[in-house]
Amino acid sequence: MKNISRNEFIKASALTAASLLVSSIETWAAVDDKKLKVALIGCGSVSNRYLPQLLSSKMIEVVSLCDTKYERALAQNKQYNVNAQTYKNIDDLLAGVPFDMMVTTTDMQVHGMLNKKALLAGKHVWSEKPMANTYAEGKALLDLARSKKLRLWGAPAVVNSPQFAFMSKAIQEGQLGTVAAAHGQYGHTGPGWSAFFYEQDGGSMPDLGVYNMATLTGLLGPAKSVMAMLSIITPERTVDDKGKIKVVAEDNAQVLLEHANGVLSHVMCGFNYFDPHGHEATNQSLHSIQVYGTKGNMRLIGYDWETNGVVMDTSETEPPKLLCTDKGGYEWQEGARVVGESIVKAVEPRINVEHALHVLEIIEAARKSQQTGRRIQLQSTFAWPMV
Ligand SMILES: NC(=O)c1ccc[n+]([C@@H]2O[C@H](COP(=O)([O-])OP(=O)(O)OC[C@H]3O[C@@H](n4cnc5c(N)ncnc54)[C@H](O)[C@@H]3O)[C@@H](O)[C@H]2O)c1
Repeated sequence: MKNISRNEFIKASALTAASLLVSSIETWAAVDDKKLKVALIGCGSVSNRYLPQLLSSKMIEVVSLCDTKYERALAQNKQYNVNAQTYKNIDDLLAGVPFDMMVTTTDMQVHGMLNKKALLAGKHVWSEKPMANTYAEGKALLDLARSKKLRLWGAPAVVNSPQFAFMSKAIQEGQLGTVAAAHGQYGHTGPGWSAFFYEQDGGSMPDLGVYNMATLTGLLGPAKSVMAMLSIITPERTVDDKGKIKVVAEDNAQVLLEHANGVLSHVMCGFNYFDPHGHEATNQSLHSIQVYGTKGNMRLIGYDWETNGVVMDTSETEPPKLLCTDKGGYEWQEGARVVGESIVKAVEPRINVEHALHVLEIIEAARKSQQTGRRIQLQSTFAWPMV
C-alpha cells in the first residue's frame, strides 16, 4: 500500500466516509507519522492515570482536553505538559481541532451521551466504564459505531494482564479439571471526591464489580443468567464536590452468575469494605479471584486490575505454587493507549466491545434481580475463550 500524508489521508477519508473504518486498520498502517490524535474528556482523578499512559506512546498525540470544570482541563494541560487545545464542553471539543479518538473519563452517568456525540461526529471512542447507563443504550452505541465504521471500546482492561492470560490458559488446558465455581471481590470505603459514584446510575457495580465481572466472564465464558442482592449500607456521605449527599445507588452488592455447563460464579463488591491498602493495590495480598475445578484451584493475588501473581493448587501432596508474578508492563489504566495503538499498528486488541457490553447487561440484570427478586436471563454474548 502506498504511503500517503496525514492531510491526504484525512481528505481521502472524508470523501470515502463509508469505507473509512472497514479499512481503518489498514489505512492507519499507511499514514506517514502513524500518530493517532486523541481528545480526552473528563480531567478529574482518573485522568492523572490516563494522561501519562497516552503521552508515553509514540503512536498517540493528545491534541485536546475537555472538562465542564474548565480549570481542570487547563490544570492537566499544564501539569502533564500536554500542549493540547482545551475546551469547556463536548460541542466545542468536537468543533475544535480535528482528532481521531475520544477518551471518555467523565462522571459515569454522562458516558453514553458523550460517546454518542463523538460517534456521530465520526470519532472512535474508548470509554471508561460503563460505556452507557443501560444495555440498550450501549447496544445502540455499538450499532451506531458499526454503521459509521467506527471503533468503540469500554473499560476495564483486566483481560490484558499476563495473570488473566495465565489463568485462562490453565482453564482451557484443563489444569483444573472440570471447572465448577469461581469468586471475585473488590471493595474499599468509597471515593470521597465526587457525588456521582453514589447517585442514580452510579454504584459499586459499575465502578468496582465491573472488574470482577469482566474477569470472571472472560475466564469462564458469557453468563446466561444473573441473580443479585443489592443494598445501601451508608445512606449519607460527605463528598468534596457536593458536601453531604444521600446515597441512591447500591453501595453493597452480591451478584451470582450462571455460565454455560452449570458453572457458577459470584462477585461481591461495595463501598464499605475496610482495606488497609485503600485505593492502592500494589502490595495487596488478598486472593480476590478464586477458581475451583475438580482437579485444582487457583487464586489471583491482588486485584484483577493490579495483579501480583497466581497461586495454583493442583496436587494433594505438593504445596500450592506461586506462579506468574510478573506484570509484564501491564497497567490497569493502559486500555485507551492499547486500543489507540492497535488502530495505528493494524492489530485487533484482546479487549472487545461485546465483552464490555455483556458486563453492562450483567449490571443492569443485577439491578432488575434486586427489584423483582427474580433470576434474570441475559441476551448478550461475546467471542470466547479470549486467550
Ligand atoms: N479515579 C479513579 O481512580 C478511577 C479508576 C478507574 C476508573 N475510573 C472511572 O473514571 C471515570 C471518572 O472518574 P474520576 O474518579 O476521574 O471522577 P472525577 O469526578 O474525579 O472526574 C470526572 C471529571 O469529569 C468532568 N465532567 C463531568 N461531566 C462532564 C461533561 N459532560 N463534559 C466534560 N467533562 C465532564 C467533571 O467535571 C470531572 O472533572 C468514572 O467512570 C470512574 O468509574 C476512575
